[in-house]
Amino acid sequence: MLRPETQFILNGETVRTRAAQGMLVLDYLRDRAGLKGTKEGCREGDCGACTVLVGSADGDSTHYLPMTSCLMPLGELHGRHLVSIEGLNLDGLNPAQQAIVDAGATQCGFCTPGIVVSLTGLLLQPETGSPEQATAKALSGHLCRCTGYRSLKAAGVAMQESVGDRTGIDSLVAAGVLPDTFSGITPRLKAIPPRADPNGQPAAGLVLAGGTDLYIQQGAAVEQSPLDLLGQRPELHGITRAADHIRLGAMTTFEQFAGHPAIAGLVPDIEAIMEQIASWQIRSRATIGGNIVNASPIADLTIMLLALDAQLELASGSDRRSLPLRKFYRGYKELDLAPGEILNAIRIPLPEAGTRFHFEKVSKRWNLDIASVNSALAITVVDGRIEALRLALGGVAPVPLFLADTCRLLTGKLLSVATVREALEAVQAEIAPISDIRGSADYKRLLARQQTMLHFAVLFPETVPVEEFYAAN
Ligand SMILES: Cc1cc2nc3c(=O)[nH]c(=O)nc-3n(C[C@H](O)[C@H](O)[C@H](O)COP(=O)(O)OP(=O)(O)OC[C@H]3O[C@@H](n4cnc5c(N)ncnc54)[C@H](O)[C@@H]3O)c2cc1C
Ligand code: FES
Ligand code: FES
Repeated sequence: MLRPETQFILNGETVRTRAAQGMLVLDYLRDRAGLKGTKEGCREGDCGACTVLVGSADGDSTHYLPMTSCLMPLGELHGRHLVSIEGLNLDGLNPAQQAIVDAGATQCGFCTPGIVVSLTGLLLQPETGSPEQATAKALSGHLCRCTGYRSLKAAGVAMQESVGDRTGIDSLVAAGVLPDTFSGITPRLKAIPPRADPNGQPAAGLVLAGGTDLYIQQGAAVEQSPLDLLGQRPELHGITRAADHIRLGAMTTFEQFAGHPAIAGLVPDIEAIMEQIASWQIRSRATIGGNIVNASPIADLTIMLLALDAQLELASGSDRRSLPLRKFYRGYKELDLAPGEILNAIRIPLPEAGTRFHFEKVSKRWNLDIASVNSALAITVVDGRIEALRLALGGVAPVPLFLADTCRLLTGKLLSVATVREALEAVQAEIAPISDIRGSADYKRLLARQQTMLHFAVLFPETVPVEEFYAAN
Protein backbone atom coordinates (compact mmCIF):
# COMPACT_ATOMS: atom_id res chain seq x y z
CA MET A 1 0.00 0.00 0.00
CA LEU A 2 1.23 3.50 -0.84
CA ARG A 3 2.41 5.28 2.29
CA PRO A 4 0.92 8.71 3.06
CA GLU A 5 2.96 11.64 1.80
CA THR A 6 4.63 13.85 4.36
CA GLN A 7 5.15 17.41 3.15
CA PHE A 8 7.20 19.90 5.13
CA ILE A 9 9.86 22.57 4.83
CA LEU A 10 13.39 21.46 5.68
CA ASN A 11 15.42 24.59 6.40
CA GLY A 12 14.44 26.47 3.20
CA GLU A 13 13.43 23.61 0.90
CA THR A 14 10.00 22.03 0.50
CA VAL A 15 10.19 18.25 0.97
CA ARG A 16 7.64 15.67 -0.15
CA THR A 17 8.40 12.14 0.94
CA ARG A 18 6.68 8.79 1.26
CA ALA A 19 9.27 7.48 3.71
CA ALA A 20 7.78 5.55 6.66
CA GLN A 21 5.74 7.75 8.99
CA GLY A 22 7.56 6.33 11.98
CA MET A 23 11.06 6.93 10.62
CA LEU A 24 12.95 9.05 13.10
CA VAL A 25 13.48 12.64 12.05
CA LEU A 26 17.10 12.12 13.15
CA ASP A 27 17.55 9.27 10.68
CA TYR A 28 15.82 11.21 7.92
CA LEU A 29 18.17 14.14 8.40
CA ARG A 30 21.37 12.15 8.58
CA ASP A 31 20.67 9.24 6.23
CA ARG A 32 18.22 10.63 3.66
CA ALA A 33 18.89 14.37 3.60
CA GLY A 34 22.65 13.99 4.16
CA LEU A 35 22.59 16.64 6.90
CA LYS A 36 25.09 15.29 9.41
CA GLY A 37 25.28 18.34 11.68
CA THR A 38 22.48 16.89 13.82
CA LYS A 39 24.27 14.38 16.05
CA GLU A 40 23.15 11.03 17.38
CA GLY A 41 24.11 10.46 21.01
CA CYS A 42 21.83 8.47 23.28
CA ARG A 43 18.84 8.04 20.92
CA GLU A 44 16.68 8.19 24.06
CA GLY A 45 15.98 11.88 24.56
CA ASP A 46 18.59 12.32 27.28
CA CYS A 47 21.60 14.04 25.71
CA GLY A 48 20.14 16.71 23.40
CA ALA A 49 22.75 16.16 20.65
CA CYS A 50 19.97 15.56 18.11
CA THR A 51 17.99 18.73 18.91
CA VAL A 52 16.18 20.46 16.04
CA LEU A 53 13.72 23.32 15.89
CA VAL A 54 10.21 22.53 14.74
CA GLY A 55 7.98 25.40 13.62
CA SER A 56 4.18 25.20 13.53
CA ALA A 57 2.03 27.85 11.85
CA ASP A 58 -0.18 29.57 14.41
CA GLY A 59 -2.40 32.31 12.96
CA ASP A 60 -0.18 34.74 11.07
CA SER A 61 3.08 33.55 12.56
CA THR A 62 5.08 30.40 13.13
CA HIS A 63 5.99 29.21 16.59
CA TYR A 64 9.25 27.28 17.03
CA LEU A 65 10.21 24.82 19.75
CA PRO A 66 13.29 22.63 20.22
CA MET A 67 12.62 18.89 20.00
CA THR A 68 14.74 15.76 20.17
CA SER A 69 14.75 14.37 16.63
CA CYS A 70 15.62 10.91 18.02
CA LEU A 71 12.09 10.57 19.44
CA MET A 72 10.09 12.26 16.70
CA PRO A 73 8.38 10.49 13.79
CA LEU A 74 8.80 11.90 10.30
CA GLY A 75 5.01 11.86 9.80
CA GLU A 76 4.64 14.48 12.53
CA LEU A 77 6.48 16.97 10.35
CA HIS A 78 3.60 17.25 7.92
CA GLY A 79 2.80 20.96 7.51
CA ARG A 80 5.70 22.05 9.71
CA HIS A 81 9.10 23.76 9.37
CA LEU A 82 12.06 21.57 10.36
CA VAL A 83 15.22 23.53 11.15
CA SER A 84 18.45 21.61 11.59
CA ILE A 85 21.73 23.20 12.62
CA GLU A 86 22.52 23.72 8.92
CA GLY A 87 19.38 25.87 8.66
CA LEU A 88 20.79 28.35 11.17
CA ASN A 89 23.96 29.08 9.21
CA LEU A 90 24.76 32.66 8.29
CA ASP A 91 27.75 34.00 6.35
CA GLY A 92 29.56 34.48 9.66
CA LEU A 93 28.85 32.89 13.03
CA ASN A 94 25.34 33.30 14.38
CA PRO A 95 24.93 34.86 17.85
CA ALA A 96 24.73 31.49 19.63
CA GLN A 97 27.85 30.20 17.86
CA GLN A 98 29.72 33.45 18.51
CA ALA A 99 28.81 33.43 22.20
CA ILE A 100 30.00 29.81 22.53
CA VAL A 101 33.32 30.70 20.90
CA ASP A 102 33.75 33.80 23.07
CA ALA A 103 33.02 31.87 26.27
CA GLY A 104 35.27 28.96 25.32
CA ALA A 105 32.22 26.74 25.70
CA THR A 106 33.11 23.95 23.29
CA GLN A 107 35.82 21.31 23.13
CA CYS A 108 35.10 18.11 21.16
CA GLY A 109 32.05 19.85 19.73
CA PHE A 110 29.75 16.83 19.70
CA CYS A 111 27.12 18.50 21.88
CA THR A 112 27.57 21.92 20.29
CA PRO A 113 25.14 21.80 17.32
CA GLY A 114 22.26 20.76 19.57
CA ILE A 115 23.10 23.48 22.07
CA VAL A 116 23.31 26.13 19.32
CA VAL A 117 19.84 25.01 18.17
CA SER A 118 18.33 25.25 21.68
CA LEU A 119 19.96 28.61 22.41
CA THR A 120 18.68 29.98 19.10
CA GLY A 121 15.29 28.55 20.07
CA LEU A 122 15.35 30.87 23.09
CA LEU A 123 15.53 33.89 20.79
CA LEU A 124 12.31 32.72 19.14
CA GLN A 125 10.30 32.77 22.40
CA PRO A 126 8.69 35.74 24.08
CA GLU A 127 11.06 36.94 26.77
CA THR A 128 10.09 35.66 30.20
CA GLY A 129 12.30 35.49 33.26
CA SER A 130 15.92 36.48 33.49
CA PRO A 131 18.58 35.57 30.88
CA GLU A 132 20.00 33.13 33.46
CA GLN A 133 16.62 31.38 33.89
CA ALA A 134 16.07 31.24 30.14
CA THR A 135 19.54 29.77 29.62
CA ALA A 136 18.91 27.13 32.30
CA LYS A 137 15.75 26.12 30.45
CA ALA A 138 17.60 25.91 27.12
CA LEU A 139 20.41 23.82 28.58
CA SER A 140 18.16 21.54 30.64
CA GLY A 141 18.06 18.88 27.92
CA HIS A 142 21.76 18.89 27.01
CA LEU A 143 24.69 16.87 28.24
CA CYS A 144 28.22 18.12 27.61
CA ARG A 145 30.92 15.72 28.75
CA CYS A 146 33.96 17.92 28.04
CA THR A 147 33.47 21.57 28.67
CA GLY A 148 31.37 21.89 31.79
CA TYR A 149 28.28 24.01 32.12
CA ARG A 150 29.67 27.23 33.58
CA SER A 151 30.95 28.49 30.23
CA LEU A 152 27.81 27.28 28.45
CA LYS A 153 25.65 29.23 30.88
CA ALA A 154 27.81 32.31 30.31
CA ALA A 155 27.43 31.85 26.55
CA GLY A 156 23.63 31.64 26.84
CA VAL A 157 23.43 34.85 28.85
CA ALA A 158 25.90 36.67 26.56
CA MET A 159 23.98 35.58 23.47
CA GLN A 160 20.73 37.05 24.81
CA GLU A 161 22.46 40.28 25.77
CA SER A 162 24.11 40.57 22.34
CA VAL A 163 20.77 40.17 20.55
CA GLY A 164 18.86 42.56 22.83
CA ASP A 165 15.17 43.14 22.04
CA ARG A 166 13.48 40.22 20.30
CA THR A 167 10.36 41.39 18.57
CA GLY A 168 9.61 38.58 16.18
CA ILE A 169 11.10 36.55 13.40
CA ASP A 170 11.23 39.30 10.78
CA SER A 171 13.20 41.58 13.07
CA LEU A 172 15.61 38.74 13.90
CA VAL A 173 16.12 38.11 10.19
CA ALA A 174 16.61 41.84 9.55
CA ALA A 175 19.14 42.00 12.40
CA GLY A 176 21.13 39.16 10.87
CA VAL A 177 20.37 36.80 13.76
CA LEU A 178 18.45 34.28 11.65
CA PRO A 179 18.96 33.42 7.98
CA ASP A 180 16.39 34.86 5.59
CA THR A 181 14.86 31.41 4.96
CA PHE A 182 12.79 32.13 8.10
CA SER A 183 10.97 34.96 6.31
CA GLY A 184 7.77 33.99 4.57
CA ILE A 185 7.60 30.54 6.16
CA THR A 186 4.06 30.93 7.54
CA PRO A 187 2.26 31.27 4.15
CA ARG A 188 4.34 28.40 2.81
CA LEU A 189 3.28 26.18 5.72
CA LYS A 190 -0.35 27.20 5.33
CA ALA A 191 -0.24 26.23 1.66
CA ILE A 192 0.54 22.61 2.56
CA PRO A 193 -2.76 20.69 2.31
CA PRO A 194 -3.77 19.02 5.58
CA ARG A 195 -4.06 15.27 5.70
CA ALA A 196 -7.47 13.57 5.70
CA ASP A 197 -9.03 14.26 9.11
CA PRO A 198 -9.10 11.00 11.13
CA ASN A 199 -11.23 12.50 13.92
CA GLY A 200 -13.98 10.27 15.16
CA GLN A 201 -12.38 7.08 13.88
CA PRO A 202 -11.21 4.33 16.22
CA ALA A 203 -7.46 3.98 16.57
CA ALA A 204 -5.89 1.98 13.75
CA GLY A 205 -2.22 1.03 14.05
CA LEU A 206 0.11 1.83 16.87
CA VAL A 207 -1.14 4.91 18.71
CA LEU A 208 1.57 7.58 18.95
CA ALA A 209 1.12 10.92 20.68
CA GLY A 210 4.49 12.57 21.42
CA GLY A 211 6.40 9.29 21.09
CA THR A 212 8.65 10.07 24.07
CA ASP A 213 7.69 6.84 25.82
CA LEU A 214 6.77 4.73 22.81
CA TYR A 215 10.10 5.02 20.96
CA ILE A 216 12.02 4.17 24.12
CA GLN A 217 9.87 1.13 24.83
CA GLN A 218 9.37 -0.23 21.32
CA GLY A 219 12.11 1.42 19.23
CA ALA A 220 12.44 -0.22 15.84
CA ALA A 221 8.89 -1.65 15.98
CA VAL A 222 7.47 1.89 16.01
CA GLU A 223 9.60 2.84 13.03
CA GLN A 224 8.20 -0.02 10.96
CA SER A 225 4.57 -0.19 12.18
CA PRO A 226 1.55 1.53 10.72
CA LEU A 227 0.97 4.46 13.05
CA ASP A 228 -2.05 6.38 14.25
CA LEU A 229 -0.45 9.79 14.72
CA LEU A 230 -2.70 11.48 17.24
CA GLY A 231 -1.07 14.80 16.42
CA GLN A 232 -3.11 14.71 13.20
CA ARG A 233 -6.44 14.65 15.09
CA PRO A 234 -7.47 18.28 15.63
CA GLU A 235 -10.06 17.48 18.32
CA LEU A 236 -7.32 16.16 20.60
CA HIS A 237 -5.61 19.56 20.77
CA GLY A 238 -6.27 22.68 22.81
CA ILE A 239 -7.07 23.84 26.32
CA THR A 240 -10.47 25.37 27.00
CA ARG A 241 -12.05 26.74 30.13
CA ALA A 242 -15.77 26.23 30.85
CA ALA A 243 -17.84 27.46 33.79
CA ASP A 244 -17.02 24.47 35.97
CA HIS A 245 -14.00 22.77 34.43
CA ILE A 246 -10.87 23.07 32.32
CA ARG A 247 -10.67 20.72 29.34
CA LEU A 248 -7.27 19.57 28.10
CA GLY A 249 -7.14 17.87 24.72
CA ALA A 250 -5.15 14.66 25.20
CA MET A 251 -2.44 16.03 22.86
CA THR A 252 -1.77 18.96 25.19
CA THR A 253 1.99 19.02 25.71
CA PHE A 254 3.66 19.61 29.06
CA GLU A 255 4.83 23.01 27.79
CA GLN A 256 1.31 24.02 26.72
CA PHE A 257 -0.08 22.83 30.07
CA ALA A 258 2.51 24.79 32.05
CA GLY A 259 2.13 27.94 29.94
CA HIS A 260 -1.67 28.21 30.11
CA PRO A 261 -3.16 30.84 32.44
CA ALA A 262 -6.02 28.53 33.44
CA ILE A 263 -3.50 26.01 34.78
CA ALA A 264 -1.51 28.68 36.59
CA GLY A 265 -4.77 29.46 38.41
CA LEU A 266 -4.92 25.87 39.74
CA VAL A 267 -1.22 25.19 40.22
CA PRO A 268 0.36 28.57 40.99
CA ASP A 269 3.97 27.33 40.91
CA ILE A 270 3.58 25.24 37.75
CA GLU A 271 6.53 26.96 36.00
CA ALA A 272 8.88 26.08 38.86
CA ILE A 273 7.54 22.51 39.03
CA MET A 274 8.22 22.05 35.32
CA GLU A 275 11.92 22.78 35.81
CA GLN A 276 12.12 19.38 37.47
CA ILE A 277 10.16 17.54 34.79
CA ALA A 278 11.99 16.21 31.73
CA SER A 279 13.69 18.92 29.60
CA TRP A 280 12.50 21.74 27.36
CA GLN A 281 12.78 19.50 24.26
CA ILE A 282 10.88 16.59 25.84
CA ARG A 283 8.22 18.85 27.36
CA SER A 284 7.65 20.28 23.89
CA ARG A 285 6.67 16.80 22.62
CA ALA A 286 5.42 14.85 25.67
CA THR A 287 1.63 14.92 26.01
CA ILE A 288 -0.66 14.72 29.00
CA GLY A 289 -2.60 11.91 27.32
CA GLY A 290 0.61 9.91 26.80
CA ASN A 291 1.59 10.45 30.42
CA ILE A 292 -1.73 9.01 31.60
CA VAL A 293 -2.01 6.08 29.17
CA ASN A 294 1.63 5.07 29.53
CA ALA A 295 0.65 4.30 33.14
CA SER A 296 4.08 4.67 34.67
CA PRO A 297 3.69 4.57 38.47
CA ILE A 298 5.83 7.73 38.74
CA ALA A 299 4.29 9.77 35.90
CA ASP A 300 4.51 13.36 37.17
CA LEU A 301 1.56 14.91 35.35
CA THR A 302 -0.68 11.97 36.20
CA ILE A 303 0.08 12.38 39.90
CA MET A 304 -0.88 16.07 39.67
CA LEU A 305 -4.05 15.24 37.76
CA LEU A 306 -5.11 12.62 40.32
CA ALA A 307 -4.93 15.26 43.03
CA LEU A 308 -6.88 17.64 40.77
CA ASP A 309 -9.65 15.00 40.47
CA ALA A 310 -9.28 14.72 36.68
CA GLN A 311 -11.93 12.95 34.62
CA LEU A 312 -11.12 11.20 31.36
CA GLU A 313 -13.07 11.46 28.10
CA LEU A 314 -12.55 8.18 26.22
CA ALA A 315 -13.67 7.59 22.65
CA SER A 316 -13.94 4.72 20.22
CA GLY A 317 -15.31 6.01 16.92
CA SER A 318 -18.52 7.82 17.87
CA ASP A 319 -18.86 5.99 21.22
CA ARG A 320 -17.93 8.20 24.16
CA ARG A 321 -17.65 7.55 27.88
CA SER A 322 -16.13 9.30 30.84
CA LEU A 323 -14.22 7.86 33.74
CA PRO A 324 -12.49 9.33 36.80
CA LEU A 325 -8.72 9.11 36.33
CA ARG A 326 -8.46 7.38 39.70
CA LYS A 327 -10.45 4.42 38.30
CA PHE A 328 -8.41 4.10 35.11
CA TYR A 329 -5.64 1.91 36.54
CA ARG A 330 -6.42 -1.71 37.31
CA GLY A 331 -2.90 -2.98 37.99
CA TYR A 332 0.63 -2.50 36.71
CA LYS A 333 0.16 -1.12 33.16
CA GLU A 334 -3.40 -2.52 33.13
CA LEU A 335 -5.95 0.04 32.06
CA ASP A 336 -9.67 0.45 31.67
CA LEU A 337 -9.12 1.13 27.94
CA ALA A 338 -10.70 -1.03 25.24
CA PRO A 339 -8.83 -1.97 22.03
CA GLY A 340 -9.17 0.91 19.55
CA GLU A 341 -10.25 3.30 22.29
CA ILE A 342 -8.47 6.65 22.56
CA LEU A 343 -8.16 9.11 25.38
CA ASN A 344 -9.68 12.24 23.85
CA ALA A 345 -9.46 14.74 26.65
CA ILE A 346 -9.01 15.33 30.35
CA ARG A 347 -11.40 17.47 32.36
CA ILE A 348 -10.26 19.14 35.54
CA PRO A 349 -13.20 20.31 37.66
CA LEU A 350 -12.67 23.84 38.96
CA PRO A 351 -12.12 23.45 42.70
CA GLU A 352 -13.87 25.39 45.42
CA ALA A 353 -12.48 28.84 46.17
CA GLY A 354 -9.55 28.64 48.56
CA THR A 355 -8.38 25.19 47.45
CA ARG A 356 -4.59 24.91 47.70
CA PHE A 357 -2.31 22.67 45.67
CA HIS A 358 1.24 21.45 46.21
CA PHE A 359 3.53 19.03 44.33
CA GLU A 360 6.77 17.36 45.44
CA LYS A 361 9.27 15.25 43.51
CA VAL A 362 12.48 13.63 44.68
CA SER A 363 14.82 12.27 42.02
CA LYS A 364 18.55 11.57 41.91
CA ARG A 365 19.18 14.46 39.49
CA TRP A 366 17.33 17.78 39.28
CA ASN A 367 16.91 17.87 35.48
CA LEU A 368 15.80 15.06 33.27
CA ASP A 369 15.25 12.42 35.90
CA ILE A 370 12.47 10.12 36.88
CA ALA A 371 11.10 10.43 40.40
CA SER A 372 11.95 8.06 43.22
CA VAL A 373 8.72 9.29 44.78
CA ASN A 374 6.46 12.15 43.69
CA SER A 375 3.23 13.37 45.21
CA ALA A 376 0.54 16.03 45.02
CA LEU A 377 -2.06 17.34 47.43
CA ALA A 378 -5.15 19.45 46.74
CA ILE A 379 -6.90 20.59 49.90
CA THR A 380 -9.77 22.87 50.88
CA VAL A 381 -9.88 24.08 54.48
CA VAL A 382 -12.85 26.08 55.75
CA ASP A 383 -12.85 27.54 59.28
CA GLY A 384 -9.92 25.33 60.20
CA ARG A 385 -11.64 22.12 59.07
CA ILE A 386 -10.62 19.97 56.10
CA GLU A 387 -13.58 20.11 53.71
CA ALA A 388 -11.99 18.28 50.82
CA LEU A 389 -8.64 16.61 50.32
CA ARG A 390 -7.06 14.66 47.47
CA LEU A 391 -3.63 13.09 47.86
CA ALA A 392 -1.78 11.11 45.17
CA LEU A 393 1.63 9.47 45.33
CA GLY A 394 3.88 7.96 42.66
CA GLY A 395 6.61 5.35 43.03
CA VAL A 396 4.92 3.61 45.96
CA ALA A 397 2.60 1.15 44.20
CA PRO A 398 2.24 -0.59 40.81
CA VAL A 399 0.09 2.33 39.61
CA PRO A 400 0.00 6.11 40.15
CA LEU A 401 -1.79 5.92 43.49
CA PHE A 402 -4.78 7.91 44.71
CA LEU A 403 -4.83 7.51 48.49
CA ALA A 404 -8.56 7.04 48.93
CA ASP A 405 -8.39 5.73 52.54
CA THR A 406 -6.16 8.55 53.76
CA CYS A 407 -8.39 11.13 52.07
CA ARG A 408 -11.52 9.64 53.67
CA LEU A 409 -9.87 9.55 57.09
CA LEU A 410 -8.90 13.22 57.02
CA THR A 411 -11.99 14.75 55.44
CA GLY A 412 -14.00 16.67 58.06
CA LYS A 413 -11.17 16.78 60.61
CA LEU A 414 -9.64 19.90 62.08
CA LEU A 415 -6.39 20.77 60.35
CA SER A 416 -3.70 20.36 63.01
CA VAL A 417 -0.32 18.78 63.65
CA ALA A 418 -2.12 15.80 65.22
CA THR A 419 -4.27 15.31 62.11
CA VAL A 420 -1.19 15.41 59.87
CA ARG A 421 0.47 12.81 62.10
CA GLU A 422 -2.59 10.60 61.52
CA ALA A 423 -2.21 11.19 57.79
CA LEU A 424 1.42 10.10 57.90
CA GLU A 425 0.42 6.78 59.47
CA ALA A 426 -2.49 6.28 57.10
CA VAL A 427 -0.23 6.87 54.10
CA GLN A 428 2.16 4.14 55.28
CA ALA A 429 -0.74 1.68 55.53
CA GLU A 430 -1.92 2.47 52.01
CA ILE A 431 1.34 2.30 50.06
CA ALA A 432 3.41 -0.74 49.03
CA PRO A 433 6.70 0.44 47.49
CA ILE A 434 9.27 -2.00 46.17
CA SER A 435 13.05 -1.67 46.03
CA ASP A 436 14.43 -0.79 42.60
CA ILE A 437 17.09 1.41 41.00
CA ARG A 438 15.29 4.51 42.23
CA GLY A 439 15.61 3.53 45.87
CA SER A 440 14.87 0.88 48.47
CA ALA A 441 11.35 0.29 49.70
CA ASP A 442 12.34 1.82 53.07
CA TYR A 443 13.72 4.95 51.41
CA LYS A 444 10.52 5.38 49.43
CA ARG A 445 8.45 5.00 52.59
CA LEU A 446 10.55 7.74 54.15
CA LEU A 447 10.05 9.95 51.08
CA ALA A 448 6.30 9.33 51.18
CA ARG A 449 6.25 10.44 54.82
CA GLN A 450 8.40 13.52 54.23
CA GLN A 451 6.54 14.62 51.14
CA THR A 452 3.12 14.20 52.79
CA MET A 453 4.29 16.22 55.76
CA LEU A 454 5.78 18.89 53.48
CA HIS A 455 2.53 19.35 51.56
CA PHE A 456 0.81 20.46 54.76
CA ALA A 457 3.80 22.38 56.12
CA VAL A 458 4.27 24.36 52.90
CA LEU A 459 0.58 25.10 52.41
CA PHE A 460 -0.22 25.84 56.09
CA PRO A 461 3.07 26.89 57.71
CA GLU A 462 1.37 28.49 60.70
CA THR A 463 -0.98 25.63 61.59
CA VAL A 464 1.40 22.84 60.67
CA PRO A 465 4.97 24.12 61.24
CA VAL A 466 7.60 21.86 59.77
CA GLU A 467 9.66 22.00 63.00
CA GLU A 468 6.97 19.96 64.77
CA PHE A 469 7.89 16.96 62.66
CA TYR A 470 11.63 17.26 62.99
CA ALA A 471 11.29 17.63 66.76
CA ALA A 472 9.36 14.36 66.82
CA ASN A 473 12.13 12.40 65.11
C1 LIG B 1 14.38 11.98 28.43
C2 LIG B 1 13.01 11.79 28.99
C3 LIG B 1 12.66 12.39 30.19
C4 LIG B 1 11.40 12.20 30.73
N1 LIG B 1 11.10 12.81 31.91
C5 LIG B 1 9.87 12.65 32.45
C6 LIG B 1 9.54 13.29 33.67
O1 LIG B 1 10.35 14.01 34.28
N2 LIG B 1 8.29 13.08 34.16
C7 LIG B 1 7.38 12.29 33.53
O2 LIG B 1 6.26 12.14 34.03
N3 LIG B 1 7.66 11.68 32.37
C8 LIG B 1 8.89 11.83 31.82
N4 LIG B 1 9.20 11.20 30.65
C9 LIG B 1 8.25 10.26 30.07
C10 LIG B 1 7.37 10.80 28.92
O3 LIG B 1 7.89 11.96 28.32
C11 LIG B 1 5.95 11.08 29.42
O4 LIG B 1 5.38 9.96 30.02
C12 LIG B 1 5.04 11.61 28.32
O5 LIG B 1 3.90 12.20 28.89
C13 LIG B 1 4.57 10.55 27.34
O6 LIG B 1 3.72 11.19 26.41
P1 LIG B 1 3.88 10.99 24.85
O7 LIG B 1 2.90 11.88 24.21
O8 LIG B 1 5.27 11.11 24.41
O9 LIG B 1 3.40 9.47 24.76
P2 LIG B 1 3.70 8.36 23.66
O10 LIG B 1 5.09 7.87 23.82
O11 LIG B 1 3.29 8.82 22.32
O12 LIG B 1 2.66 7.26 24.15
C14 LIG B 1 2.79 6.58 25.39
C15 LIG B 1 1.74 5.46 25.44
O13 LIG B 1 0.44 6.00 25.53
C16 LIG B 1 -0.36 5.64 24.39
N5 LIG B 1 -1.13 6.86 24.10
C17 LIG B 1 -0.63 8.12 24.05
N6 LIG B 1 -1.64 9.01 23.92
C18 LIG B 1 -2.79 8.29 23.89
C19 LIG B 1 -4.17 8.66 23.77
N7 LIG B 1 -4.57 9.94 23.71
N8 LIG B 1 -5.10 7.66 23.76
C20 LIG B 1 -4.72 6.35 23.85
N9 LIG B 1 -3.42 5.96 23.97
C21 LIG B 1 -2.47 6.92 23.99
C22 LIG B 1 0.62 5.20 23.33
O14 LIG B 1 0.06 4.25 22.45
C23 LIG B 1 1.73 4.60 24.19
O15 LIG B 1 1.39 3.31 24.57
C24 LIG B 1 10.46 11.39 30.07
C25 LIG B 1 10.79 10.80 28.84
C26 LIG B 1 12.05 10.99 28.30
C27 LIG B 1 12.41 10.36 27.00
S1 FES C 1 20.34 11.44 20.55
FE1 FES C 1 20.41 11.97 22.67
S2 FES C 1 18.61 13.16 22.88
FE2 FES C 1 18.48 12.43 20.88
S1 FES D 1 32.14 19.79 23.92
FE1 FES D 1 32.41 17.66 23.99
S2 FES D 1 30.50 16.95 24.72
FE2 FES D 1 30.31 19.06 24.85
